[in-house]
Amino acid sequence: AIDISALRAKTGYITLDFGYKNTGSTKSAITYLDGENGVLRYRGYPIEQLAEKASFLEVAYLLIYGELPTKAQLDNFQSSITKHTLVHEDMKQFFEAYPAKAHPMGVLASMVCSLSTFYPESLNPNRSEAEFDLTIHRLLAKLPTLAAWSYKNAMRHPFMYPKNNMEYCENFLYMMFAMPTEEYHIDPVVISALNKLLILHADHEQNCSASTVRIVGSSQANLYASISAGISALWGPLHGGANQAVIEMLEKIHNDGGDVDKWVAKAKDKEDPFRLMGFGHRVYKNFDPRATIIKKACDDVLEKLGIVDPMLDIAKKLEKVALEDDYFKSRNLYPNVDFYSGIIYRALGIPTEMFTVMFALGRLPGWIAQWKEMISNGEPIGRPRQVYVGATERDYVDIEKR
Ligand code: ACO
Repeated sequence: AIDISALRAKTGYITLDFGYKNTGSTKSAITYLDGENGVLRYRGYPIEQLAEKASFLEVAYLLIYGELPTKAQLDNFQSSITKHTLVHEDMKQFFEAYPAKAHPMGVLASMVCSLSTFYPESLNPNRSEAEFDLTIHRLLAKLPTLAAWSYKNAMRHPFMYPKNNMEYCENFLYMMFAMPTEEYHIDPVVISALNKLLILHADHEQNCSASTVRIVGSSQANLYASISAGISALWGPLHGGANQAVIEMLEKIHNDGGDVDKWVAKAKDKEDPFRLMGFGHRVYKNFDPRATIIKKACDDVLEKLGIVDPMLDIAKKLEKVALEDDYFKSRNLYPNVDFYSGIIYRALGIPTEMFTVMFALGRLPGWIAQWKEMISNGEPIGRPRQVYVGATERDYVDIEKR
C-alpha cells in the first residue's frame, strides 16, 4: 500500500489519476463535447450541420484557423494544398524497403516523420507564420498520397500520382484504386460518404492521439514528428485501431457460426478478456452523435451500392442485443463511431488494414489545430508526476554475489 502521508511529506500533493480520467490538461477553444448529452461541436458548429453541408477541407480550415473560410480563403487553401500533393521522388524508395505485409499505419507514421528530413525548416521553433502555414498545407496535401501509396506498395501495384484537378477525397480514392491501364470511375456516393467520414473524425478534443501530439509538440519537436507520434497513438485497438478490430471481430463471429449471443456472453464474462469492439466510450455515456450520423450514411451507402454483406447482419444483431442487455445498458456501452465506420469502409472497398489510416486522414486537421493551439497558448512542456512504488534505497550487489 502507498504511504500517502510519507509521500506528501516528500513531494507535496500530487493528483494520481490513471488514464487522466478526470484531469484537464489544457484550455481549448477547438472542440466542444458533452458526453452526457451526446453533443459535439467544432468551433461552435454542430457536427450534424458540418457533416451534412461542409467539405472536409472547409472543416479542416475551420479547425485550424478558427473560422469558416470565405470563398476566397477556401480557394486559396485548396489550391495551396493541391500544389503540394506530390511527395519527393526519393521517398518512393522508402516504400520499397518495407515488407509487403507491413501494416500501413507503421509505414505512415514513419513516412510522416521522414517528411521533416525533406523540409528541415520545419525544425525551427521560431518559424514565421507563412512557413508554418506551408508545413500545415504540405501535411494535409501529402498524407493522402502517402496513405494511398502505402496500400499500393502492400499490393505491389504501381503508384498512382495525384490528379490535381480532382477534389481531396476523390483524389485520394483515385490514388488508392486506379490502375494505369484502366479507366477509373468513382461513384459520387462513395466520394460523399468519405467526405462525411473524414469530417466526423476530424477532431475529438483531448483524446489519446491529440494529447500525444500536444505533449510531443510541447518539447518543441517539429510538427511532422508530433503528427507521426499521433498516428502511432491512434494505431492502438483501444483508440483508432478499433475500426479494424470491429471487422475482424465480425469475421470471427461469422466464421464461428454467427452465434451472436455466445459472443455477447463472452464480452460480459469478467474472466474472459474479450470485449465487444466498437462498443463503449470514455466520454460519451448516452450515445455518440457521430455514430448516429454514420449509421445513417452507412445504411445509405449499402442501399445505393446494393451491397449485401453477412458481416452487416451480425453487426445489426450485435447492436440490438447490446442495446437491450442490462450489462451494456448499466455501463452505458453504446456502439461508437468505429462500430459503423468499419462497416462503411468495407462497403467502400477499403481494405481492413487501411481502416485506421482512414481515421488518421480524417483526424489530421484536429491534430494540427491542437498542436497550433498548444504553441499559441505558450503551454509548458508536458511532464506528468508519478507516485513511486518501487524498492527503497538498497546497495549495489556485485554480479558474482547475486
Ligand atoms: N465490451 C464489454 N465490456 C466493456 C466494454 C466492451 N466493449 N467496454 C467497457 N466494458 C466494461 C468494462 O469491463 C467495465 O466493466 P466493470 O465496471 O464491470 O469493470 C466497464 O464497462 C467500464 O469500462 P472501462 O474500461 O473502465 O471504460 P473506459 O472508459 O476506460 O474505456 C473504452 C473506454 C476503451 C472505449 C472501452 O469501452 C473499450 O475497450 N471499448 C472497446 C474498444 C473500442 O471500441 N474502442 C474505440 C473507442 S472510440 C475511439 O477511439 C474513436
